Amino acid sequence: MIDVVLCASGSDEVRIVHGVARDHAGELRVVRRCADLAETLAVVSAGVGDVVLIDLEVRGMDREALSDMLRTAGAVVGLVHRAEGVPTSTTLGLRHVVDATAPVAEVAAVLQSAASPDARAIEDWVQTRPDPHAPRGRLLAVWGAAGAPGRSTLAANIAHEAALAGVDTILVDADTYGPALAQILGVVDDAPGLVAACRASARDTLDVGTVASIVPVLHPGLRFLSGIGVPARWPEVRPSSLDGVWEVLRRSAALVVVDAGSCLEEDEELSYDTMAPRRNAASTSAVAAADTVLAVTTADPVAITRLLREDERLRELEVTDLRVVVNRVAPPTPADRIRSLVLERMDVRAISTVPDDPATLRRACWDGTLLSEAGPRTPVRRAVRDLALSLLPEPVAVAGAPAG
Ligand SMILES: Nc1ncnc2c1ncn2[C@@H]1O[C@H](COP(=O)(O)OP(=O)(O)OP(=O)(O)O)[C@@H](O)[C@H]1O
Ligand SMILES: [Mg+2]
Repeated sequence: MIDVVLCASGSDEVRIVHGVARDHAGELRVVRRCADLAETLAVVSAGVGDVVLIDLEVRGMDREALSDMLRTAGAVVGLVHRAEGVPTSTTLGLRHVVDATAPVAEVAAVLQSAASPDARAIEDWVQTRPDPHAPRGRLLAVWGAAGAPGRSTLAANIAHEAALAGVDTILVDADTYGPALAQILGVVDDAPGLVAACRASARDTLDVGTVASIVPVLHPGLRFLSGIGVPARWPEVRPSSLDGVWEVLRRSAALVVVDAGSCLEEDEELSYDTMAPRRNAASTSAVAAADTVLAVTTADPVAITRLLREDERLRELEVTDLRVVVNRVAPPTPADRIRSLVLERMDVRAISTVPDDPATLRRACWDGTLLSEAGPRTPVRRAVRDLALSLLPEPVAVAGAPAG
C-alpha cells in the first residue's frame, strides 16, 4: 500500500481522492489532503506518506521546496497544467509529472512508478535541464584561504584579460562574506545579482535569455553577475539553486570566472532542517563545479601554511585541475622555495607568481579601473595577463591580446 500526501486545487483534489478510493483502494490511499505548500512541507517533514502528489502551480513552489520534499519524502509527483496553445507549465526539473486533468488511472500509475523501490536517487530527480548539445563554457573558481590574498583582484583582472583576448566571459561575485567586485570594477549600481539568479533558478525561469537581464555588460566581451550586495543577504543564496546557476552561466559564456571567497567549510549541518541556508554553499559549490580552481595565496609563511592546510578540503570537493598563484611576490620572498614547497605537498597542475605592486593596485582601486588601464605596461599586469591566457578555454595566442 502506498500512502499519498495530496496538495491540489479543489476540483482536482476531489476527483483524485474519489478515483483513488474507488478504483485503486488496494494499492493507494490518500492519507493527507493539504491546503497549501507550507502544510505539505510540514506533513512530509513529520514523516507522513510515501509519495507527495502536488500541484506545481501551488503558491510558493520552487526548486528549493521540491528538493526539500524529495529529501524527506523520497518521491514527489507534480501535477502540471497543459492547455492547447499555451506553453507547458514548468516541471521544475521534476522527473515524475502528470497532467492535472489526466484520468485517475494514469495518475495512479505515475504515483506507483515514482514510489517504486528502484526510483532514482534524490539528485537524479531534480534535474537542471541540461541540453547535451548546447556549447558549455569553462568554469574557473578563484579561491584562496582567509587573509585577503587577492582573490577578487585576480578574478576581476583575469576575467577582463580573457575578454580582451576575445573570450566571451562572465565574472561572478560569489563571496558571501565580503562581496567586493562591484567596488573593484567601479560599478555604482550594486544590485544583488546572485540573489536574483538563485531566485530565478529556483523558479525554473533562469535560462540563457534571462541571464542577459541580470548580467549586464561591463566591457566588450565581459559581463558581470554581481554578488549579494549587503553581506547580511547571504541566506537568500539558496544552496539547491546554485548548481543550476553555474550550469546556465556556463551555457551563456565561453568562460565563467567566479570569485569564490575563502571559506570552504561545510556549514553546520542542521539535519532536521534541510531548508537551512548555508553561507558557504556559494564557495563550495563553485569550487566543486569548477573545471579549474585557481588557489590564490600571498607570498608569506602564514598564507602558504593556510593554503597547504586546505589541501584535504579541496580533495574532498573533488578538485581535479588545481593551479596555484602566489600573489604579491617581492624581495626577499624566496619564490623558488615556495614553489617547491607547494609542489611537494599539493597535487597542482601549475604554479605561477604575480609581483607585489601596491602603487598600481592602489591606483586601480581608487579609480575603479583594471590593470590593463591602471598599469598597462607594469610587470604585475603582464603576469596577470599571462596567467589569464594560460587559463583560457582554447589556447589564445598572446599576440591576440593587446600589447603590454
Ligand atoms: N599583486 C598585488 N600587489 C599589490 N597589492 C595587491 C596585489 N594583489 C592584491 N592587492 C591588494 O590586496 C588587497 C586585497 O586584495 P583583494 O581584495 O583582491 O583580496 P581578497 O582575497 O579578495 O580579500 P577579501 O578577503 O577581502 O575578499 C587589495 O587592497 C588589493 O589591491
Ligand atoms: Mg575578495
